[in-house]
Amino acid sequence: MSEILTERLRGRYATEADFTNLRRIHANRTAMAWLSVDGESLAEADTREALRNCITCTRRPINILWMLERRSDGAFIGYCGIKPWTSEAGVVENELLYALLLEFWGQGYVPEIARSMLDEAFTADHQASIVAFTLPANRRSWRVMEKLGFVREADIVHRGLAHVFYRLKRATASNQ
Ligand SMILES: CC(C)(COP(=O)(O)OP(=O)(O)OC[C@H]1O[C@@H](n2cnc3c(N)ncnc32)[C@H](O)[C@@H]1OP(=O)(O)O)[C@@H](O)C(=O)NCCC(=O)NCCS
Repeated sequence: MSEILTERLRGRYATEADFTNLRRIHANRTAMAWLSVDGESLAEADTREALRNCITCTRRPINILWMLERRSDGAFIGYCGIKPWTSEAGVVENELLYALLLEFWGQGYVPEIARSMLDEAFTADHQASIVAFTLPANRRSWRVMEKLGFVREADIVHRGLAHVFYRLKRATASNQ
């Protein structure tokens, strides 16, 4: 199956045509304040590399970033997915990632589609837990994690920056 459907959204595989879509996120400093190490927009070469990774890594349900569209009109709204991540201590975890175009924030889109992805990671892929982390000031992202049932576990340093680190365990997956 090459898509994820929820009530309002469709997750699909990335294609070369998504370069323009991803640029709309990567060139936006409000979004990138939460996503890049220096808070600046990404260079086009970095977007190309990110897209190449998205296109080549499509092992469901882990190791894929889904391109998200609104089902009502097909509008590209952002991306969400679960990818392997290695901590500074060398532990490999699976991390939930997400970012939306600014105009689609605040409508509950990420929790809606992430819930499907997490369900599949736990049931089809038998993952014991999924992690997520964000900059302390990124309260929207905290809230997304908490709505999904993630529990704050630690404060970590990631790419030289302090982050709050959350984990969702299979047994405690929330449907709230
Ligand atoms: C983080 C992001 C994906 C949120 O997705 P979303 O689909 O808009 O999330 P929601 O619609 O569920 O809204 C987020 C929640 O944060 C709350 N919120 C918004 N601003 C807030 C603030 N300043 N402080 C606390 N909570 C806030 C909203 O009220 C909402 O909670 P509610 O449903 O209980 O009212 C989106 O803001 C984004 O793309 N940000 C830039 C990229 C990013 O930060 N990615 C994560 C990196 S770890």
